[in-house]
Amino acid sequence: MAKLFTSAKVGAFQLNHRVALAPMTRVRTIQPGDIPSPMMADFYGQRASKGGLLVIEAASVSAQARSYLGAASIFHDGQHEGWKAIADAVHAKGGYAFLQLIHGGRQSHVDVAGGATPVAPSEVPFEGVALTKDGFVPVSPHRALRIEEIPGIVEDFRVAAERAKKAGFDGVELHAANGYLVDQFIQDGTNKRTDAYGGPVENRVRFMREALEALISVFGADRVGVRISPSGEWGGISDSDPQATFSHVAKVLDGYGIAYLHFIEPRIKGDDTLHAGHPVVAASYLRPHFSGPIIAAGGFDREDAIATVEKGDADLIAFGRHFSSNPDLPYRLQHDLPLTPYVRAAFWGGNETNYSDFPAYGEGVARPEQDEANTVAAA
Ligand SMILES: Cc1cc2nc3c(=O)[nH]c(=O)nc-3n(C[C@H](O)[C@H](O)[C@H](O)COP(=O)(O)O)c2cc1C
Repeated sequence: MAKLFTSAKVGAFQLNHRVALAPMTRVRTIQPGDIPSPMMADFYGQRASKGGLLVIEAASVSAQARSYLGAASIFHDGQHEGWKAIADAVHAKGGYAFLQLIHGGRQSHVDVAGGATPVAPSEVPFEGVALTKDGFVPVSPHRALRIEEIPGIVEDFRVAAERAKKAGFDGVELHAANGYLVDQFIQDGTNKRTDAYGGPVENRVRFMREALEALISVFGADRVGVRISPSGEWGGISDSDPQATFSHVAKVLDGYGIAYLHFIEPRIKGDDTLHAGHPVVAASYLRPHFSGPIIAAGGFDREDAIATVEKGDADLIAFGRHFSSNPDLPYRLQHDLPLTPYVRAAFWGGNETNYSDFPAYGEGVARPEQDEANTVAAA
């Protein structure tokens, strides 16, 4: 049997297989208040499997941390029951759920950031988008964080982790990828600071370390993962030497004994394949620097996933888009069954349709509205 379908130890957990769910913001909370909805619990319950790891979509750690109206957040008591229902749905199937925690930084808009000006390490012109009541609109201009504000944001991460723990999550994942706040500190295209948080890479990882230490203080290192996206292009992010920067990040993370290092291959830009057919690259240069479990994500198909784990470049593979339309993805991959194509139009908001209504294999037939373009992109 291919190693992808064998057990693995990840932090405090003994997994039954190595096919993980990648975090996907699907913009289906109940408004106002970003209340996790029953359809979200259905969605995650359907994708849970015995001994399988699910990384649950990014949850903003404060109102100011938000980037997308309708996306998840975890900063007030009214959200507790909704999050608990999600953790319970995963546990009912014998799965494990890590909640991804995010601060969007400059990828935001005053209308979603609780009226506040978005913040970033430095003021660097940026032409990204945020999702508001008017749809995807240009982000608001951001301002540089004052050094004395940083402990407050670290504390937001800690409190969010406490809420996640109380709701029953098995662990949390620090979102240090895709050009959001932690990544904005790490990469020198967005971090122009001259204080202890900017300049050499040792300083640029300081915010990541502090946020990580806050999460570890709640869960313990063996229940905390970190996600990075070396050379990723989502969020207008850039670095003058990504290989050196992210090798250092991997080394630093190795020192904490965390549950896993999760990274996105640069052939992917956020929710889309930018460089189809591009080989797995980040895995090979990160592996030597990190001795714990590695989860690779981004553009994997069955063959690629099996080969990457077999080779030892990664221990697990996380799937996003294929998992969105195949609730029983680990089973289908193991038995080499056909996959249902995903539906891009339903990614960023909507109802149950093309979200929590995809059948498991044999429970239904593929539907006529299959999106041919996405089938090609996913190949
Ligand atoms: C609709 C959508 C939402 C996403 N939201 C998140 C997110 O909340 N956090 C994150 O780290 N990545 C997010 N991603 C990126 C995925 O986790 C994953 O890296 C990407 O889809 C590439 O993997 P795939 O080729 O298996 O789909 C999102 C992707 C999609 C399609």
